[in-house]
Amino acid sequence: MTNHTKEEPLSADQWLIESQELRSFVATVREISANTTDDRSQTLARLEPYFQELLAQPRWLPEKFAQINPESKMGGGIGQWLLYRSQDRSLTVFSLVIPPSATTPVHDHLAWGLIGLYQGNQEEIVYRRVDNGESEEYAQLEVVEVRSLQPGDIYRLLPPDGDIHAVKTTSQSASVSIHVLGNDTGCIWRHQFIPESHSVKSFRSGYSNVPCQEEEKENALIR
Ligand SMILES: [Fe+2]
Repeated sequence: MTNHTKEEPLSADQWLIESQELRSFVATVREISANTTDDRSQTLARLEPYFQELLAQPRWLPEKFAQINPESKMGGGIGQWLLYRSQDRSLTVFSLVIPPSATTPVHDHLAWGLIGLYQGNQEEIVYRRVDNGESEEYAQLEVVEVRSLQPGDIYRLLPPDGDIHAVKTTSQSASVSIHVLGNDTGCIWRHQFIPESHSVKSFRSGYSNVPCQEEEKENALIR
């Protein structure tokens, strides 16, 4: 198994966009998540109305962060744009842009979170793992739910519930969803699944606009 170094804390919170709407939403997330650390279902329930409000506002996300990314590590031109990351990497907000007809791999997130659709339409297939989870190469998944999502729709991640899914854009234009996650989703090593062959492998999606520390080190070695 590959040994991955843990990403170090940042020197300060990172803001990749300048938006009053996002700043005030993040302040609310920080307050609510700090007050509900022992019950993440409470965190999610209390956050939802504020998230709904953010998703209903049409102009806070700059066009640049609603673009697809042909270089994507997730494949299919999917853009994953970091918008905010807390200093200790325990909270991130990012946009995920999936081109028309493209599908994400089946993947997990390994943290509590809320995902809301901002533009376009999606179909989401939610899975659950039914083996004992001990093997690094084998996983047996079963489909729990298939959902059609419209702008404004929100779903919850509360591992293991809702944590494994694949998402496809069903609109003519790219879909844009906003993710609020209790980890540094783009830079941690998580899992990609191929349900038909029961295989699982570790993967790191990265962000389209910010390298992870480990990637920076690898690039420095190549140079
Ligand atoms: Fe996801």
